[in-house]
Amino acid sequence: MTKAAQKVWANVDRYFGEKLAPSDPALDAALAANRKAKLPAIDVTPLQGKFLELLVRISSARRVLEIGTLGGYSTLWLVRALPQDGHIVSLELDPRHAEIARANLQNAGVSDRVDIRVGPATESLQALVTESVAPFDFIFIDADKAGYPDYLGWSLKLSCPGTLIVADNVVRDGKVIEPDNPDPNIQGVRRFTDLVAAEPRVSATALQTVGSKGYDGFSLAVVLR
Ligand SMILES: C[S@@+](CC[C@H](N)C(=O)[O-])C[C@H]1O[C@@H](n2cnc3c(N)ncnc32)[C@H](O)[C@@H]1O
Repeated sequence: MTKAAQKVWANVDRYFGEKLAPSDPALDAALAANRKAKLPAIDVTPLQGKFLELLVRISSARRVLEIGTLGGYSTLWLVRALPQDGHIVSLELDPRHAEIARANLQNAGVSDRVDIRVGPATESLQALVTESVAPFDFIFIDADKAGYPDYLGWSLKLSCPGTLIVADNVVRDGKVIEPDNPDPNIQGVRRFTDLVAAEPRVSATALQTVGSKGYDGFSLAVVLR
C-alpha cells in the first residue's frame, strides 16, 4: 500500500469519525489511559467500535462474549449497546491489560455489567462451557490470531441460533491470501476461514476495511442452527 493511499484512508477515517463516532469523555479517557500505560495501540478504531456497537444493537444482543480485552476500549463500545440488564464476559491473557481495562470500565460507570476473566482464552472458554452459562448472542473474537480456529469451535459451543460471531483482523494487509506464509497469525486466520466456510451451522461473509490502522478486515458469521 502506498503512503499516499494510507494518508487518504486515515483522513477519511478522521472525517467520518468526527461526524459519526465523535469525541466521548469515557472512550477518550480509556484510549488515553491505554496509551499512558503503553499498551500496544491495537484497539479497534472509533468507527470500528461504532460498527460493533451497531451490530450489537441490530442483533438485540443481551449477552456478549469478547475474546481479547486489551484495555477495554472495544468492551466499552460493546457494553454501551446493551440494554440495562445486558452483560459482557471479556477474556484476556495478560493480567496487566485486564487491570487497566477494569479501571477504564469502572471510570465509565459500566463495570457492573462486565466480567473480565484472566488467563488463556481456551481455558476461560472451557470454564464457561463447564459452568453451562447461557448462550451468548454476540461474540467478538479479537485475541491471538493463531487461536482463532479454536475460538470458533468454542464460540459455536457457547452460541445459539441467531448468535453473531465477529472476528477482527482477518485480512492482515492482504497476506491472508498467501498459503505458504509462515506467520502463525496468517495461518490462524486462513484455518479459521476454512473452518467457517465448511461449517454448515453458520452463514458467513468477510469485509475488507481500510482506515487509520491500515488495511485489514472483519469476518461475520451468524449461527443458523
Ligand atoms: C487486539 S488486542 C484486543 C483489542 C481490544 N479488543 C480492543 O479493540 O480494544 C488482543 C488482546 O488479546 C490478548 N490475548 C492474546 N492472546 C490471548 C490468549 N491466548 N487468551 C486471551 N487473550 C489473549 C492480548 O493480551 C491483547 O490484549
